[in-house]
Amino acid sequence: MLELPRGALWSLALIAIVIGIASVGFAYTAGWLSPDRLTPGKLVAALAPPGGPSLGHRRNHAKGICFTGIFEAKGAGSELSVAPVFVRGQYPVIGRFNLGTAEANAPDATVRVRGLGISISAPDGQEWRSAMIDPPMFPVATPQDFYELLRASGSKDPNAIKTFAGDHPEFAAFGDWAKTAPWHRSYAEEQFNSLNSFVFIDKAGTDHVVRWSLLPAAQPVDISPDELAKLGADFLEQKIAQRVANAPQRWTMVVTVADPGDPTADPTKRWPDDRRKLEVGTLTAERVEAERDGPCRDINFDPTVLPSGMRTSDDPFPAARSAAYAKSYDLRTAEGPDYPRTATGGK
Ligand code: HEM
Repeated sequence: MLELPRGALWSLALIAIVIGIASVGFAYTAGWLSPDRLTPGKLVAALAPPGGPSLGHRRNHAKGICFTGIFEAKGAGSELSVAPVFVRGQYPVIGRFNLGTAEANAPDATVRVRGLGISISAPDGQEWRSAMIDPPMFPVATPQDFYELLRASGSKDPNAIKTFAGDHPEFAAFGDWAKTAPWHRSYAEEQFNSLNSFVFIDKAGTDHVVRWSLLPAAQPVDISPDELAKLGADFLEQKIAQRVANAPQRWTMVVTVADPGDPTADPTKRWPDDRRKLEVGTLTAERVEAERDGPCRDINFDPTVLPSGMRTSDDPFPAARSAAYAKSYDLRTAEGPDYPRTATGGK
């Protein structure tokens, strides 16, 4: 039998221990040691539609179109945050108009939630990324509830959503919005809301808990879903491309500051209308480009990518979103034939 010197045996034992610890670490991260723990993998899997995910596409908000433009800061935001993007001036933006669906080919008139992702770049390379949606509140209070809602939506039990709504009374406000809010024929007419709260830090080092919204300059015109359906499956992309080609489209960015005691960790809860509001700048969409090989395709609009002067709050969503977006990004960018690489790729 091969005799190993004592020192070599110790080395092998040490390697085995290190590998063992690393394996336990991986197993923990993957959630194998705690099957009830919510992981990014579970969240992303639960988003998949019955026919499977749209390969090469985002695992949620899968249908969208890129744009480039400018954020013009008025300077007013500097009162709340030392973020470089609030210093009076113009900053380049890469953005994406999108639909809240995991189906890349969903007809536009069938999707209730519309979204907007933006990345604003400061001259020193820092970025402010944000992904906002048009409802004024989120349907659920925690990432775990979001997972339960996705499971209920995908369930074969016809009463699953009813049961979920019964167990989560806070879901009703979103349900009412979905049933009664007017529909519009263009992304240019939508207001987009951060819903999650974040912390802005001012020059004195004082924290301000905030949410923000983009208010459209275009006057919204209400239209019924039946009329929308007649416009074709992809009217939103066509209309925004036409509209921006005719004239740049603008939104005012308004930051709302929480009062002490406002619910900052729960995006189902709106803050009272009389909270302090600051107009910090204007977003202008200047050029619309196809998503397939456009500049937004390779960006993950991770809401935790924030410049100095901003950080996440006690709202649990941004961290959960960050991990799920990274998972989705890894999946879609690895789906080679469905995700053609071009010279424009990059982030
Ligand atoms: C735990 C809750 C959530 C999960 C698991 C989730 C999941 C996802 C995933 C996987 C993507 C695709 C990311 C990519 O591949 O780049 C995505 C995109 C998006 N999400 Fe969420 N999301 C959550 C909450 C929210 C909330 C609260 C908002 C808005 C307030 C939001 C707005 C958006 C928007 C606008 C996009 C599209 C961004 C883009 O154009 O790339 N999501 N989400």
